[in-house]
Amino acid sequence: MASVCNSKTLNTPFTSSTTSSLASTSKPSQLLLHGKRNQTFKISCKVSNNDQNGETNSVDRRNVLLGLGGLYGVANAVPLATANPIPTPDLTSCSIAHIDETDDVEYSCCPPKPDDLDKVPYYKFPSMTKLRIRPPAHAADEEYIAKYNLATKRMRELDINPTDPLGFKQQANIHCAYCNGAYRVGGKELQVHFSWLFFPFHRWYLYFYERILGSLINDPTFGLPYWNWDHPKGMRLPPMFDREGSSIYDEKRNQNHRNGTVIDLGHFGEEVETTQLQMMTNNLTLMYRQMITNAPCPLLFFGAPYPLGSDPSPGMGTIENIPHTPVHIWTGDNPRQKHGENMGNFYSAGLDPVFYCHHANVDRMWNEWKQIGGKRRDLTQKDWLNSEFFFYDENRNPFRVRVRDCLDTKKMGYDYAPMPTPWRNFKPIRKSTTGKVNTSSLPPASQVFPLAKLDKAISFSIDRPASSRTQQEKTEQEEMLTFNKIQYDDRKYIRFDVFLNVDKNVNADELDKAEFAGSYTSLPHVHKVNGSHAASVTFQLAITELLEDIGLEDEDTIAVTLVPKKGDISIDSAEIKLEAC
Ligand code: C2O
Repeated sequence: MASVCNSKTLNTPFTSSTTSSLASTSKPSQLLLHGKRNQTFKISCKVSNNDQNGETNSVDRRNVLLGLGGLYGVANAVPLATANPIPTPDLTSCSIAHIDETDDVEYSCCPPKPDDLDKVPYYKFPSMTKLRIRPPAHAADEEYIAKYNLATKRMRELDINPTDPLGFKQQANIHCAYCNGAYRVGGKELQVHFSWLFFPFHRWYLYFYERILGSLINDPTFGLPYWNWDHPKGMRLPPMFDREGSSIYDEKRNQNHRNGTVIDLGHFGEEVETTQLQMMTNNLTLMYRQMITNAPCPLLFFGAPYPLGSDPSPGMGTIENIPHTPVHIWTGDNPRQKHGENMGNFYSAGLDPVFYCHHANVDRMWNEWKQIGGKRRDLTQKDWLNSEFFFYDENRNPFRVRVRDCLDTKKMGYDYAPMPTPWRNFKPIRKSTTGKVNTSSLPPASQVFPLAKLDKAISFSIDRPASSRTQQEKTEQEEMLTFNKIQYDDRKYIRFDVFLNVDKNVNADELDKAEFAGSYTSLPHVHKVNGSHAASVTFQLAITELLEDIGLEDEDTIAVTLVPKKGDISIDSAEIKLEAC
């Protein structure tokens, strides 16, 4: 699939200034040793299953895989088999949102209501002559930056009329309303994160935001910049956003993460003490794992099914989990703001212009993922395709939009200026062990689980359902390392890493290893759905390719090591399953 990476290819992105015309922005970065801990971000993480075949026959398995509320309870009550897409939210019932459940901090972010709610039409793409091209933010020239600043300044000026839907604050409120509990659909809170609505909602949101900016400067070709955090040159706050006094600057950002500090795409609230090179290497490894190894199937990439009537937040896709959420946390002003404003909390994230730049790259990853091949295609479930959202266009006209109409960015009138994607060739091959660790000296999974507290690194052996599988068998079914009923307090930070075939002394600050399977993260999550803060989720990692890379395909039993990094976690059981996409 991806070719092997050696130290030469590893160095290229850092040292070459000829591969592209990008202005180098690198300065020595400071990686701080101590970060502040208690940060607020409305996130819960339930990693998804890998089942996208058919709409009827997979229901039961879906429930099991996703750990949907008490496993069977919720999904049994929801007729997943019939068409139940999430409809346009009912604006008349839009109500006050909440920032923080414990203090019950309220925040009002409903949009202005259109005159005739029942007659809001479906959106039609206006005719266009030229694609809007979104440039990588770190490489944009001064002329572009000036245009973008002017457009944002004009958008901020519209705030003088607080109910102008095109105003900067109203635009930010869109995010709050769809994420902090202002809308209800099907009797439940509407949430566009932690599920398969994540990618399409944000795509439409940016589409209109971009068109509004363009119309404010009379430039229909204006394209939003993208924060190219998947490339070493973009692994820092884009410099254009770091100019104090400009309209795209935001004061509520972590001051320790300015001036070229290298970003940690796995940031979980604490600073990792390592070199810039190792950080970038970890980042590219995480990108490789999230885009390639752990996302061979559509639902793993997009997130779990979220039909009308089901509880919100059934499970995140790989990219929403990492790096999307860590970038929010890393940027937000957690040291100084109580709720991690602006980027570190959903209700306020849209108040930082860099939000739209971050999400442009998230959106770009959707396009990139589809180009990788294999079974990486858009979902085909009607409940996804027919889900709807509500937006105002640049002429202040209200529209309903559908997921099915946002699958092709060129049809929507925009595309991304190409940048190399070094993570694609970043398959980690360095091994920290030679040969197979002695599994007979390890306790079997059946003895280790249920695990009451994952408070130190632990290794165990686990049986595989099949070994020495043929290529055909591998194409048909993915081998999934599955952790059932992971439980923790969802108001807390959680992260643990999973390695295969290492012992528990593995250095978990260096992720660029063949044995690194993936990470589970969760960040404080505020919701009004039920009174419980006990998350109970299923987490799966696709390990087919990993086992090839480590040379363990013929083994019946393998060693798994869990390294806790943050939070109190218990795990009910672990198993390896074979699953079709
Ligand atoms: Cu809607 Cu990045 O969150």
